[in-house]
Amino acid sequence: MDIRTNIPLKNFTTMRLGGPARFFADAHSPAEAQALYRNAKQQQLPVFILGGGSNLLARDEGFDGLVIRMRILGFEVIADDLNTTTIKVGAGEIWDSVVERTVSMNLSGIEAMSAIPGTAGAAPVQNVGAYGQEIAETLISLEAYDTQNDAFAVLQNEDCNFSYRHSIFRGDQQGRYIITSITLQLSKSLPAPPFYDTLQSYLDANNISFYTQQTIRDAVKTIRAEKLPDPTVIANSGSFFKNSIIDAWRANELRQNFPDIKMFEMADGRMKVPSGWLIEKAGLKGSVSHGIRVYEKNALVLVNEAATGYQDLAAAREEIISKVRDTFQVIIEQEPLEITA
Ligand code: EPU
Repeated sequence: MDIRTNIPLKNFTTMRLGGPARFFADAHSPAEAQALYRNAKQQQLPVFILGGGSNLLARDEGFDGLVIRMRILGFEVIADDLNTTTIKVGAGEIWDSVVERTVSMNLSGIEAMSAIPGTAGAAPVQNVGAYGQEIAETLISLEAYDTQNDAFAVLQNEDCNFSYRHSIFRGDQQGRYIITSITLQLSKSLPAPPFYDTLQSYLDANNISFYTQQTIRDAVKTIRAEKLPDPTVIANSGSFFKNSIIDAWRANELRQNFPDIKMFEMADGRMKVPSGWLIEKAGLKGSVSHGIRVYEKNALVLVNEAATGYQDLAAAREEIISKVRDTFQVIIEQEPLEITA
């Protein structure tokens, strides 16, 4: 195992900010991940697990420990019946290659999550979702190295406690599990409406009425390319804020003051307010502060144009949060995780 030292984390996060990791190593197998972890703990070093770095921010002080980059590969059909195919995927596989492969196998369930950057193992952490699908709907189980018990574990879907952009892996069990593979059960049926609003509008506008996994994937790729900057070209972390979930009474109050506000009802009766709308209506779309731009095509995305470090991003973030709070009395929350001990 090749352990490197003093590696700039800005090269491993798509926002391209942040100081160095003291130690940095790739894990190509579950056993390697375990060995690296044990080794670090023997030396009392904190450990951070890195996937594609596309939903992650590194701070200027870097990370005074070992960063393990997940490189475990593998794509395996483990069950197949009349209606479904179950696949097991290594945590280090590129998520979109997995989607591409399942679509070419005519499987449904993750086609609307096309073109999301990052790795397969990172997808359950924030319960990745897009255009009406989220990974919680197809994930059967996952395998992980349980650092607390120094043992490999299988977690079932319900063990992960998935909710909107959340799971135990970024909640009360953060740092405990190193996800090594995910198992998804996909359907052999064609994708069927109702589709997510913006997806349906695109399909209608383009006269697409025969829905296959491939037509949905192509549609989503086109919509995303228009609204989300390609992180290999423009430094960004996708949606920088979560959509805001507020109580129904607060939602009514907001609607009285802002009749054109868009909201979606959640299963529990609370309302989801698009934070992109709030930021736009607060007048911030396209604005630049501390070298950070509120993306002109989608106010939920922050782009690093010329920030000199994480401090600049933090300053811009505080300005945006304050402006939205002062305008709407809603506190918007950051979506990407941060590399911390
Ligand atoms: N909106 C605005 N102004 C903006 C941006 C959005 O008014 O600048 C409004 C839109 O008109 C729309 C509403 O906000 O009515 C919601 O927008 P949309 O459905 O396009 O998506 P989103 O809420 O901006 C979420 C996810 C994305 C995902 C899309 C599509 C979060 C935090 N973001 O964005 O996920 O691709 O839905 O399903 O849940 C990501 O997490 O990194 C990400 C890109």
